[in-house]
Amino acid sequence: MTTILYLLLLLPYWIYSSAATAGYLADPFASILYKPSLGGQGHGSRRKPPLINVGTHHRTWAVDRVVQLFLDTCLQIGQGGQVVSLGAGSDTRFWRIMENGGDGLDRYIEVDFPHVTALKAQRIARSPRLSSLLNRPTTLPTPSSSSSSPSPSFCPPPPVPSSSPSSNSKSYTISHGGAALRSCSSLYTLLPLDLRTSTSTIRELLPHLDSTRPTLFLAECVFCYMPPEDSREIVRWFGTTFTRCVGVVYEMIGLKDVFGDVMRRNLKMRGLSLPGAVFDDAQSQANRFLDPALGEGVFAKAGGKTLWEIREGVIPPEELQRISKLEILDEIEELRLVLSHYCVAWGAKGEGLFDVML
Ligand SMILES: C[S@@+](CC[C@H](N)C(=O)[O-])C[C@H]1O[C@@H](n2cnc3c(N)ncnc32)[C@H](O)[C@@H]1O
Repeated sequence: MTTILYLLLLLPYWIYSSAATAGYLADPFASILYKPSLGGQGHGSRRKPPLINVGTHHRTWAVDRVVQLFLDTCLQIGQGGQVVSLGAGSDTRFWRIMENGGDGLDRYIEVDFPHVTALKAQRIARSPRLSSLLNRPTTLPTPSSSSSSPSPSFCPPPPVPSSSPSSNSKSYTISHGGAALRSCSSLYTLLPLDLRTSTSTIRELLPHLDSTRPTLFLAECVFCYMPPEDSREIVRWFGTTFTRCVGVVYEMIGLKDVFGDVMRRNLKMRGLSLPGAVFDDAQSQANRFLDPALGEGVFAKAGGKTLWEIREGVIPPEELQRISKLEILDEIEELRLVLSHYCVAWGAKGEGLFDVML
């Protein structure tokens, strides 16, 4: 049982909807995007043990916090920021941000394998709730307003390069045979890319981004699935392409112990491997942003905390108290063991972004 628990923290598809259903996360979009067939392989709707729900809560809370700090900073400096989610899977973060007003956000890009983005595009297209948040509400120009004011019915042609585009609605366009989706305002883009082919692939993001804007990239449970050289190239690309950039990685650490042996064995039985899970602790995850192999001054500052440290020192006591009432969790030593094997690490470069941290 325990070994399965360790493994589950690696498989967000299976567990996110459980944590949302149990009340750990307030996410009205989870039931739309986290359906079993979108990566859930039939497990998405099952309730998971408290330890797993608590771990999911802590990592979601922590990554949300870093993203919110980034957006708050963008708002303060008066320049909307860009968020790029690598290996985004079924992630609902974009919709949660937009439901809260989307302040500080200029655009949000999600990347994953084509079979994942195609299913997500379908779900977005079929859900009025999701598609209504793809663009910011606009107002009709009044006689006194500027003639360049946007109108709600205006949808400019999409810049997404497309082999066989088809227009599905006024608020977004679908391309790449159904695997790419872009909102008319360019606020949201979903792109099919295999990140393992590294530099040449990651460069395909550039037409969708503005290199002068503050940019945050997220890699939640994705770098561990690719060789360290490939993820290093991606980190380097972000660090050299954007003047102001924050990278955020959520991943497992310290897999050289019994915990790691168990996890690797279980994954192997499921045909999965973790070539990128080579980091011993949160500091070494953070150091990937300061690696001399990236080149001079790519990222200037980095840090990292285990989920256990985040629980102990970052999440407010009221929030811990709230979730402690949801389910009975008495295996605190086991919780500490599991949470100490996962961390959130970040790296930052560029003025104003050094406080985007936990
Ligand atoms: C464990 S899931 C994490 C999903 C999401 N980031 C989250 O935390 O909920 C890993 C995701 O990374 C994607 N992924 C893994 N390797 C990838 C690659 N080489 N290129 C693009 N996406 C990849 C998978 O398809 C999957 O959706």
